Amino acid sequence: MRVPIIAGNWKMHKTLDESVAFVRELAPKLAPFSGIERVVSPNYIALAAVADALKATDIQVSAQDVHWEDQGAYTSQISPHMLKGLVDYVIIGHSECRTYLGDTDENVNRKAKALLANDIKPIIAVGESLAQNEAGETQAFVGQQVRAALDGITAAQMQQIVFAYEPIWAIGTGKNASGEVANTIIGGTIRATLEDLYGGEVAAATRIQYGGSVKPSNMIEYMGQPDIDGALVGGASLKVDDFTELVALAAQAKGV
Ligand code: 13P
Repeated sequence: MRVPIIAGNWKMHKTLDESVAFVRELAPKLAPFSGIERVVSPNYIALAAVADALKATDIQVSAQDVHWEDQGAYTSQISPHMLKGLVDYVIIGHSECRTYLGDTDENVNRKAKALLANDIKPIIAVGESLAQNEAGETQAFVGQQVRAALDGITAAQMQQIVFAYEPIWAIGTGKNASGEVANTIIGGTIRATLEDLYGGEVAAATRIQYGGSVKPSNMIEYMGQPDIDGALVGGASLKVDDFTELVALAAQAKGV
């Protein structure tokens, strides 16, 4: 069975002190839901302190992006080697990094391979724009993003990879994709592409999240879908009660 995974992507929110105080309050509330993998993704300033505050818990920590080289003259960047042992996951390919920071499919693939080489699990975000969606290009575009991200990655390495389907038009807009539509893209496009690349066993074992305006009121709609294995959550992950409720609803819907 695929273990459901709920990750809170805090984006550019919370100071160092706020981040640590937040996880100290959050951790005991999430403790009962051990059937769900629970992940928080703070900003880089707060990362080490949050990891330290969560050390005695089973809540995992993710970074929000990474460079693909282990070291070098890349002013401002953080390497997979620096993150090794500190984080469990790194989100790569987020549409905000693709849109505002010039991330490309090729770089996302480099980052995925560099993370795997450092024993860190990538959460690879993919998703189409509103224009692509309206032009009926979603399946072709998302399928190609998945293929590009996985270039040169082996079937054995796929055990370490999580995908997140995040339609750009649904991020932070309150306009979420319906559970049924999200399930169709996640199952019919992303999982189908994985099957084409690696075969049915890998496709059936890979976890794929939905992201985009996920909140307590729509969580069951997503978690009730057979191909959706969790959520990558922005806004609603910034509040202890909302994030706790999302995890509780996922546990209820998935029966874990
Ligand atoms: P929102 O949940 O705020 O729409 O953000 C989704 C997201 O981008 C998570 O990575």
